[in-house]
Amino acid sequence: MTDLSWGGMQRLHVTSQTIPYDILVGRGAWRALRKLAQSDYTSTFLLTERGLWNQWRRPFLRASGLKAARSLFVPSGEASKSLRMVERVAGELLKQGADRRSLIIAFGGGVIGDLGGFVASTYMRGIDCVQVPTTVVAQVDSAIGGKTAVNVGAMKNLIGTFFPPRLVVADPSVLSTLNERAFRSGFFEVVKHAVLSGPRLFAEVERALDGLRPERAATLGPLLARAARVKADVVSRDEKEAGLRRVLNLGHTFGHALEEATGYRRFLHGEAVGWGMLAALRLAEILGLLGPAESQRIAAVIRRLGPLPPVRDLKAERVWRLLPRDKKAVGGRIHWVLPERIGKVRIVADVPSFAVEAAFYDVQRADRHE
Ligand SMILES: NC(=O)c1ccc[n+]([C@@H]2O[C@H](COP(=O)([O-])OP(=O)(O)OC[C@H]3O[C@@H](n4cnc5c(N)ncnc54)[C@H](O)[C@@H]3O)[C@@H](O)[C@H]2O)c1
Ligand SMILES: [Zn+2]
Repeated sequence: MTDLSWGGMQRLHVTSQTIPYDILVGRGAWRALRKLAQSDYTSTFLLTERGLWNQWRRPFLRASGLKAARSLFVPSGEASKSLRMVERVAGELLKQGADRRSLIIAFGGGVIGDLGGFVASTYMRGIDCVQVPTTVVAQVDSAIGGKTAVNVGAMKNLIGTFFPPRLVVADPSVLSTLNERAFRSGFFEVVKHAVLSGPRLFAEVERALDGLRPERAATLGPLLARAARVKADVVSRDEKEAGLRRVLNLGHTFGHALEEATGYRRFLHGEAVGWGMLAALRLAEILGLLGPAESQRIAAVIRRLGPLPPVRDLKAERVWRLLPRDKKAVGGRIHWVLPERIGKVRIVADVPSFAVEAAFYDVQRADRHE
């Protein structure tokens, strides 16, 4: 993986077994799509959400030059990650004459990115896809790495593919229309990447905390690029989750259980990951892997990013029961990603259940005393 930068714009490179690709992060990144506009795709389709598109259509078309692209809309929200929606979008593509040399541009958050990537990977056995992420989660995480998926019933991401995009262009300016809560929620994933990365990025996140507001989004390119680089780096070394890629699951074991225990209504994903990281910190401390000073430093950043919706009223037993269903549980075991210090995590299977229970009780107790 190389990293070239110019004029505040970062270019990250992801190596992939199928095809390597670039990620451009920074103001003006959308301009990189001009090259596509002149290339030899027979047609370009823009998959997005209507409200988002109404807000960003003009600046996007001006920057990208993709005036001839046809837009396809899906309703916003997780429910659009479904096979029914795949069929609808594919049907629409066919009706509008998309062929094997057509291009799909996914303009939106992780939902649009996962759906658009999945459709692209299967339409006529695969057509090119470009990701234009518009949420913090999508810019630092979901648009990178080539995982695509749809949900089946309550089972998230049950059906999916590994399908690298041709290009990812992330302009932080687009984050300015996110509401404050959605905006901040995405930064829990940035914190996760900083814990994985090391003290330099972590200190940078600490310094940035006070200025994390949607209206200042355009200034956040360098921080977002460094966070995106953590993901790009991991997936370059482990594209198909043979091992290393698992570290990205930090905070997600409890996080997913919390989302499921509350029917995906109480927490935004990042907020659940925030709680999940607090629980992982506590668990790592209980197991003697992590010292209190380092733990408190990470916890302080998570707290400052909050407030997080409560966990104190949740039935702990129900949360534990939901843990093993985590898809990272191999052969029924849970692989916990536990921090040892900022910049180093360890994957631990076979954590005794009393430790897991104690960690979650401690987190709930701390929440009661907020
Ligand atoms: N493929 C991966 O590796 C990967 C990794 C992490 C998450 N994901 C997936 O990503 C999804 C979550 O992504 P998300 O958090 O981006 O959610 P999302 O795509 O649902 O976007 C959140 C909300 O923000 C709105 N929105 C998007 N961009 C906006 C903007 N610029 N201004 C105003 N509003 C905007 C959307 O309409 C939506 O209501 C989940 O489905 C998750 O499974 C995938
Ligand atoms: Zn996540």
